[in-house]
Amino acid sequence: MLGAVADAADEDAVRAAFDLAGRVDHVLLTAGGYTGAGPLTELTREAAHEAYDQRVWAAVVAARLAAERMPAGGSLTFTSGNLVVRPTAGIAGAMAPGGGIETLTRALAVELAPRRLRVNTVRYGAFDTPLLRSVGGLPTDEAVREAGAELPLGRFGTAEEAGAASVFLMANTYMTGQVVTVDGGQILA
Ligand SMILES: NC(=O)c1ccc[n+]([C@@H]2O[C@H](COP(=O)([O-])OP(=O)(O)OC[C@H]3O[C@@H](n4cnc5c(N)ncnc54)[C@H](OP(=O)(O)O)[C@@H]3O)[C@@H](O)[C@H]2O)c1
Repeated sequence: MLGAVADAADEDAVRAAFDLAGRVDHVLLTAGGYTGAGPLTELTREAAHEAYDQRVWAAVVAARLAAERMPAGGSLTFTSGNLVVRPTAGIAGAMAPGGGIETLTRALAVELAPRRLRVNTVRYGAFDTPLLRSVGGLPTDEAVREAGAELPLGRFGTAEEAGAASVFLMANTYMTGQVVTVDGGQILA
C-alpha cells in the first residue's frame, strides 16, 4: 500500500505521485465536487475555472501522465454523475465539466486505443459518501436512511457498489469509450 497526496489538477504533483508508484496498470479518478454550483447569475469565472480544473483538467493530466507509463492493457476510469443528463437548477457551473468528462472519455478512448489503453467513465447516481452527506445536508445515518428511502431501491448506493463498477471497467478488456451508469435506477424515477 502506497499513499501520496496531490491536487489532481497539479501536473507536477501528480507526476511525482506516478513516479513514486512506479508501474501503473489502471487509474481511477474520483476527484471532483460541487464547486461552481449556485445560480447562474452568481457564477464567477474563478469558480467555473476551478470546476473545470477539478474534473476535466485533472483527467487530462492523469491521462497523459498515465499514457506515458502504462503498458498495453492499461485503463483509465473517470467519474461523472446523473446531474449531467438530468440537471437541477443551479448546477450548470458545476456540471458542465461533468459533461466534458464524458466527451473526453470518448475522445481519449479513440486517441489511446492504438496504444491498447482503454478509457471509460462511471456516471453515478446518489451514493452515501462524505460529499453526499455534506452537500445533501444529511449529517446522520438516520437522515441518510430517510432520504434514501425515496429512491427506487429504497436507499443510496454504497461506496462498495460504486467501486465495483470501476473494477468491472478495469477488468473487462473489451470496454472502452463507454459511460456506464450506476444509479440504482434513479434516472428512471
Ligand atoms: N456521492 C455521490 O452521490 C456522487 C454522485 C455523482 C457523482 N459523484 C462524483 O463521484 C466522485 C467521488 O465522489 P464522492 O462522493 O466520493 O466525493 P467525496 O466524498 O468528496 O470524496 C472525494 C475525494 O476526492 C478528493 N479530491 C477532491 N478533489 C480533489 C483534487 N482536486 N485532487 C485530489 N483529490 C481530490 C477529496 O479530498 P478532500 O476531502 O481532501 O477534498 C475526497 O477525498 C466526485 O467526482 C463526485 O462529483 C458522486
